[in-house]
Amino acid sequence: MSKQLIITSALPYANGPLHFGHLLEHIQTDIWVRTNRLLKEKCIYLCASDAHGTPIMMKAESENIKPEDLVKQFTKDHEKTLKGFHINHDNYYTTHSNENKKYSELIFLRSQKNNFIQNETIEQFYDESKGLFLADRYVQGTCPSCGAKHQYGDNCEECGAKYEATDLIDPISIFSGETPSIKESEHLFFDLSKQEKKLLKWIDKTDLQDGVKNKLKEWFEEGLKPWDISRDEPYFGFSIPGFPKKYFYVWLDAPIGYIAILDNFLSENSSSISAEELWNESEIYHFIGKDIMNFHTLFWPALLDASDFKKPSNVFVHGFMTLNGKKMSKSKGNFLLIDDYLNLLNPDYMRYFLATKLSNGIDDLDLDLLDFQKKVNTDLVGKFVNIASRSQGFLKEFNNILSNDLDEDLIDEFSNKKNEIFNHYLDRNYSKALKEIMTLADRANQYIDSNKPWILNKESNNKEKVRKIASTAINLFKILNLYLEPVIPETSEKIKKYLKCKDSVDNVSFYLKNHEIDSFNPLILRIEEVEIEKLIEISKNG
Ligand code: 2FM
Ligand code: ZN
Repeated sequence: MSKQLIITSALPYANGPLHFGHLLEHIQTDIWVRTNRLLKEKCIYLCASDAHGTPIMMKAESENIKPEDLVKQFTKDHEKTLKGFHINHDNYYTTHSNENKKYSELIFLRSQKNNFIQNETIEQFYDESKGLFLADRYVQGTCPSCGAKHQYGDNCEECGAKYEATDLIDPISIFSGETPSIKESEHLFFDLSKQEKKLLKWIDKTDLQDGVKNKLKEWFEEGLKPWDISRDEPYFGFSIPGFPKKYFYVWLDAPIGYIAILDNFLSENSSSISAEELWNESEIYHFIGKDIMNFHTLFWPALLDASDFKKPSNVFVHGFMTLNGKKMSKSKGNFLLIDDYLNLLNPDYMRYFLATKLSNGIDDLDLDLLDFQKKVNTDLVGKFVNIASRSQGFLKEFNNILSNDLDEDLIDEFSNKKNEIFNHYLDRNYSKALKEIMTLADRANQYIDSNKPWILNKESNNKEKVRKIASTAINLFKILNLYLEPVIPETSEKIKKYLKCKDSVDNVSFYLKNHEIDSFNPLILRIEEVEIEKLIEISKNG
């Protein structure tokens, strides 16, 4: 019986365009979803815009629009951009929704009933002229440890010291530039320590990556502290039941959004099962970056457990992305928007390249644009599509009809690799899967080279031999195309049309015999110098 999987990518904030970090994660998730679908598992792939919090509220204010409108616009833009890269969500929604309000309240009230919520009065910086409590990132001052100026309220970028915002020397509010006052306010906390045992059990039985387990060990050694889940008004978010002037902290309602997106998906599809039931019956997989690991491997499972929801089956963490070997930074002239890429080049090229870089570790990975060009031209054009381009011509005189006679042993050898390759995909070891596929592409080219059909073809009595070689090569090409399908779906579809064969990888061992294919048209084009130069130019201008 096939399993029901719920798969998510982290929800991008709705206050700016998407960058390559988002794209990397969505491509990683999408390949995994496509792999599972091809293996006949039932998948629901969910995402949304993360709508709440102070940055979105402030951005809307600076643009003189309502935060709701800002969120709507970015949600639409993000969805369009991701579609452009063939990211195949079943629902791309928003956390600013009635469904999310319902589940945030439900999960909070259940946690409260189960005694996980406490109140405590805390002191915080307050910007009097803005009428705003200041989160650590909104206060700057001199590091109390090393004296470095212009440091934020949580830690020093120069010496790495961690401190309370109120420890900063000469603090100022980044909004008004004024010295903030200190004001008391009552906050609501989720008592994480009460979940310690259950979390440890979950960590133990979950197949988390080593890097994730190590980080968790550090956090447990430091001790689990109560988590502040409330914010004072003004705040763009959901107000907390029973506390009219308090709002849920964005990081409380954002992951709850996963359930809300599912709820919306189910009602849009007139499903009879409730989101809670389906959630609890499914395997749940979250793809995230390593910067938000604590939210997904501590707070989120704790919150789910405290409110009687099923905890994630796994959380798959990836590293950060650098561009041309350096940290992406708009101000330092090393930055690329994914829309800018999409205006110039085929999305499958980038999907392929990023997949060749992805393993199941949490190491950072680099997008070197020249390396990108080389990899696509060498692998996809020079090795893979080349198998078809050099075989097609020999079939013309047979009206593009493949022979009945094939080198079946070689074809079987290729189709027998399915499990190995798809297991690499399932393990999120895409680089290994693609290495295997390109090794097979090399073998297919060697097969053509060693049989020298261009020489055989000079003798008229060799025509059927040549036809057999070309037809075998086309069969190998068909198999490799099915192996590449999760990574380059648009190209793969195009190739299926060219081969006049709709089969998927579940039917990989089927031979194309006495079968007509289309006359050849270039299936993928090389990335030209001018194109890559343009992209490099854009990345330098930010
Ligand atoms: O770090 C971020 O970009 C968050 N917007 C991710 C939220 S993921 C989930 F918890 F909603
Ligand atoms: Zn310092």
